[in-house]
Amino acid sequence: MEKKVYLDNASTTYVSSEVMAEMLPCFNAIYGNANSVHSYGRDASAIVDRARDRIAHAINASKSQEIYFTSGGTEADNWAIRGIAHAYSNKGRHIITSQIEHHAVLDACKRLEEEGFEVTYLPVDSHGLVKIVDLLHSIRKDTTLISIMSVNNEVGTIQNIKAIAKIAHDYDVIFHTDAVQALGAIKLDVQDMEIDAMTLSAHKIHGPKGVGCLYLKNGIRIENLLEGGSQERGKRGGTVNVPAVAGFGKATEIAVRDMSINQQKLRNVREYFLKQVGDNIELVSLNGHPLQKVNGIVNLSFDMVDKESLLMLLDMEGIAVSAGSACTANSIEQSHVLKAMGLDDEKANGAIRFSFGKNNSKHDIDHCVEALKKSVEQLRSISALTKAGRK
Ligand SMILES: Cc1ncc(COP(=O)(O)O)c(C=O)c1O
Repeated sequence: MEKKVYLDNASTTYVSSEVMAEMLPCFNAIYGNANSVHSYGRDASAIVDRARDRIAHAINASKSQEIYFTSGGTEADNWAIRGIAHAYSNKGRHIITSQIEHHAVLDACKRLEEEGFEVTYLPVDSHGLVKIVDLLHSIRKDTTLISIMSVNNEVGTIQNIKAIAKIAHDYDVIFHTDAVQALGAIKLDVQDMEIDAMTLSAHKIHGPKGVGCLYLKNGIRIENLLEGGSQERGKRGGTVNVPAVAGFGKATEIAVRDMSINQQKLRNVREYFLKQVGDNIELVSLNGHPLQKVNGIVNLSFDMVDKESLLMLLDMEGIAVSAGSACTANSIEQSHVLKAMGLDDEKANGAIRFSFGKNNSKHDIDHCVEALKKSVEQLRSISALTKAGRK
């Protein structure tokens, strides 16, 4: 069989066997409704409590009750943005975020604008960093919430979260961060970093899809997300997905436990990949911050190459990578992140995201770079012919 290589780990990851082992009993042996008072319910509830404890411990939350389970990162982002904005709307109706956030944050902000809120979308520099001076200038008397992502999912740039949170608090503003791409990649300590609300998701860290959480610091108000049940302290009603939550708890525990060893592996793979690309392919540039970035994400622009065609050719060679931005109706949108970083159309149009996982080997990289070289050469020869034909 043709060799396949998965280099799209920022998109999702496989569920690890340790996580699956944690989840399996919750499908049949321990199948109670975690809300029931009888022993079946108490057994299920103990599993949910354990997962909550594990996640709280992993991010140094002061109480497990500060973790609210959701159906994933998108739900937690939407809830944080709209729920906090609504809960504090008597104080003010101005929100600050950045132009490079995930659409779960950006589209929630758009919805708020339709309701009459005002939103400032901070620009970023060419490395994808929010400038502190821009943040300071944008804070107003009626600002209630600042939401800046910890790690960008397309280019891997790490924001100065602790400094941003500190500024938010100096001005008595609540601070939320989307840390979906940060969990397991950088240390997250909500107390030390002064984070009020934080979004996490399980499937980026070898946990199941469709589960995540919102960390919400004790005392921060939020509008209820779903009415109709007392689950999640009445804020998000609905029977808890016990297997998913159990898997999320275990995946988080492992991601934090193994972080330094995994990061070392990813760093080695990334450095090897960049060296191989540099030695074999010309006219390539790196997007994102050269140093302040996670090890698992590399975004490269290939001059004279169309990313959609490159993705297709690589897929035919068994290499799974991504354009980093969302696909709609089988075509790939122009990346709002690369645009905000000021990339010209050619660079943005030729940008591909390679995201590594803990099991990727040098052999995988060799296979990928071989296919990449062949595909890029093929596309460039067509592009050169097209340009010559137009002259
Ligand atoms: C930065 C970021 N935020 C939010 C999400 C959404 O998370 P989920 O897939 O769990 O809804 C993603 C997933 O791609 C992400 O990368």
